[in-house]
Amino acid sequence: MNAIDTDRLLRELTEFLRIPSVSTSASHNADCRAAAEWVAGELRRLGCREVQFLASDTHPVVWGVGPEVPGAPTLLVYGHYDVQPPEPLDEWTTPPFEPTVRDGKLFARGAADDKGQVFCLLKAIQATANRPPVNFRFLIEGEEEYGSRVLFELLRREPERTRADAVLIADMAYVAPRWPAVYTTLRGLCYAEISVRTAKSDLHSGEFGGAAPNAHEELARLLSRLKTPDGKVHIPGLYAPVKRPSKDELATWKRLPFKEGEFLKHRVQAKALTGLKAYTVLERLWALPTFEIHGITGGFTGDGAKTVIPAVATAKVSLRLVPNQKLKAVERQLAATVRRLAPSHVQASVKFLHGADPATVKVTHQAFKLLDQAFREVVGRGTVPARAGGSIPVVPALGKGGAPVILTGIGLPDDRLHAPNEKLDLKQLWDGIRVFGRFYELLGSRGVS
Ligand code: BES
Ligand code: MN
Ligand code: MN
Repeated sequence: MNAIDTDRLLRELTEFLRIPSVSTSASHNADCRAAAEWVAGELRRLGCREVQFLASDTHPVVWGVGPEVPGAPTLLVYGHYDVQPPEPLDEWTTPPFEPTVRDGKLFARGAADDKGQVFCLLKAIQATANRPPVNFRFLIEGEEEYGSRVLFELLRREPERTRADAVLIADMAYVAPRWPAVYTTLRGLCYAEISVRTAKSDLHSGEFGGAAPNAHEELARLLSRLKTPDGKVHIPGLYAPVKRPSKDELATWKRLPFKEGEFLKHRVQAKALTGLKAYTVLERLWALPTFEIHGITGGFTGDGAKTVIPAVATAKVSLRLVPNQKLKAVERQLAATVRRLAPSHVQASVKFLHGADPATVKVTHQAFKLLDQAFREVVGRGTVPARAGGSIPVVPALGKGGAPVILTGIGLPDDRLHAPNEKLDLKQLWDGIRVFGRFYELLGSRGVS
């Protein structure tokens, strides 16, 4: 392994993290494009003979083909250069797009999710003493945080892009410090806007209050009926396909370094955990569907006071889905439930913004053994199988061609993804570069067939 020039790497990663490539807001389209250019520059420096922008001008999928090594295994590296919005800004100790190191941690939006990890996978290629004999393919997209529509369409038209001996994704975390992991499932997602209208326009609450319907009141009632106080999502049929993890799997979770009390105190930092009490917290996080309200708009929320009865109210909501559930079926179930719960004087509608099917991967393929060995050699412990609560929409599509999809990562559970003060521990990055460098060497020398 080459010595790692940490100063130079930190400068380069800082440049990437400075670009505010927020994919969910059109005002950042040019920034997303700039982040794609940054990735393309790196791929060219790695000697890719083909570097292309595909399927979108504003959020292109960056496609790269590394130098051809006849007879060597093909590894497809997937990642995303887009990030979540940084708000609320005043909760950041240093601004989200001014990467700052404090106490060995790099703070910035995207530090862990996923720019820092994409950076790790790319830099690991140069870290090996000799270039590993691997046929690299790169698929780095710019819309993961917004449902990956562009990449989905691309892979539907051109499934041959996923042809590989293995797919490598570093967009997750260790299960605990010093405990690297590979993930056997990802939850799916069904993201929607529920709107209600109760009148033609807003009304004076003195003139009409007491006799006119109120959109916020109707929406609040409707939303509160979608989940019972004990945490059960109240959508008929939703749980029907859900299977409990096997006894064996539940037993392996018991051996993970996860403590409910610690999780509440240090990570959630709330007064109590919620959800279905008959299930362990890990089962609630990894193997059960959820319903969350993300935000409610409409009516009057400005400074001061305005006495108005709102005519319209909208909630952004989502459900997480677990293996065996199908996005399309859940969309139908949610729409039908909203229709049924809305009283006849309320016009309710559901608009689906984006979503993802859940993903399941078997971790028995030879490629997982090589990654396990690389982690063992570099950090002193191999990978434990775990499940993930989050979603990566294109994972099922990436696995369609039959290649094993390796879901792993160098983050830590306290990286605060999507939240203020997101960070990446630099030690995790330097170790990660060695781990993946070693993985590429093993893959190149041993193969996986
Ligand atoms: N890297 C995450 C997914 C993730 C997070 C997996 C934590 C495992 C643990 C990814 O960038 C992400 O945030 N995905 C979105 C997808 C959605 C916007 C379609 C998610 O899960 O909310
Ligand atoms: Mn991510
Ligand atoms: Mn994310």
